[in-house]
Amino acid sequence: MLGLHSRRAVIASALALAACSRPAKSQTVIPDDPLKSLADFPVGCCVQAGQLDDPDFAALLARHFSQLTPEWEMKMEYIVQPDGSFQFDRPDRIAGFAREHGLRLYGTTLIWYAQKPDAFIHLDPSRATFGQAYDNYIAGVVGRYQGAAGWDVVNEPVAEDGNGWRQSLWAERLGDFDHMVRAFHVAEAADPTATLFINDYNLESLPAKLSTYQRLIEKLLAAGAPVSGIGCQTHANADLAPGAIAHAIQALAGFGLPIHVSEMDVSVARAKGFLTSRVDLETRQARLYEEAGHAFASLPPKQRFAFTVWGLRDKDSWLHGENAGDTPVLFDDAGEPKPAFAALAKGFQP
Ligand code: G3I
Repeated sequence: MLGLHSRRAVIASALALAACSRPAKSQTVIPDDPLKSLADFPVGCCVQAGQLDDPDFAALLARHFSQLTPEWEMKMEYIVQPDGSFQFDRPDRIAGFAREHGLRLYGTTLIWYAQKPDAFIHLDPSRATFGQAYDNYIAGVVGRYQGAAGWDVVNEPVAEDGNGWRQSLWAERLGDFDHMVRAFHVAEAADPTATLFINDYNLESLPAKLSTYQRLIEKLLAAGAPVSGIGCQTHANADLAPGAIAHAIQALAGFGLPIHVSEMDVSVARAKGFLTSRVDLETRQARLYEEAGHAFASLPPKQRFAFTVWGLRDKDSWLHGENAGDTPVLFDDAGEPKPAFAALAKGFQP
């Protein structure tokens, strides 16, 4: 039985040989090892409760990944009911699957500009103040999933163009900055063991957004907010300039905190650059996965929180709804690993 490192050496040399000859897609050497066995850190994937009804999906997910993120059923849009009550059946199912298979659970997201349930908008102040309801929600969800590896406490706080912070119901009612500090303190009180993340996207493609995100993190830390992790979603397009993903990861790692590549996918359909052939786009896609994997694997061990991809098979991706021809993730519709899988596995090699 080959040891982990010698198996990696075999994989790396086979991939290197394959890469230097620029093989056609069908010739790419794709390891048949579980992806998580090729990484020195947790490798995650998002999931929806209903997908676990498919035994092939469940088996593929459990074989290759060591951490699960509920794709949407642990967010307010699913949990908070019109009358202000909470429903947990589906997130409980995902948490149960993770527990049964020895996988970590990661929660997204507690506070997000994009989610503002009516129960909060029309809160009857005689029953609870807005702040009490806000705190109760965060404490209720984090407390229910005690032992989760971590949480996206505040998701996508930076404005789309990078100029300032987003407006939201939460900012409006509890303060642009204060609502974020408050969320982190309430989450910490609810589970002191969880790593508490701020999370955002387009940090590799919009320098202004990366800079504003870094300034916000500095401000939160200076204010004593218990931010203990930094998320970089990494939703990329295949025509993204080489080096941009590595730069964003390295810039964020400068805080010395754990980093979560939290939602990586690489759209080929959204690529608008000079590339025309599908093979060119998929080659670029694979290189971006390798770049991200290598940049993450090169972080100090204590900063390698997890590397999460956003969708198991191409047909499971949120991008499939936008363009059914998009192939953004690591497994094809039949659940077979793609060259992107091989490239990410290669990037994970130290
Ligand atoms: O499954 C139900 C279906 O039964 C119902 O008929 C339908 C219409 O109501 O809704 C379906 O659920 C949808 C779910 O995706 C599954 O497709 C939800 O309405 C929809 O809101 C949900 O969208 C998710 C979105 O976040 C909003 O929560 C996407 O799956 C998810 O991929 C996306 O993920 C976000 C990250 O949280 C943040 N970063 C960007 C990323 C992509 O947008």
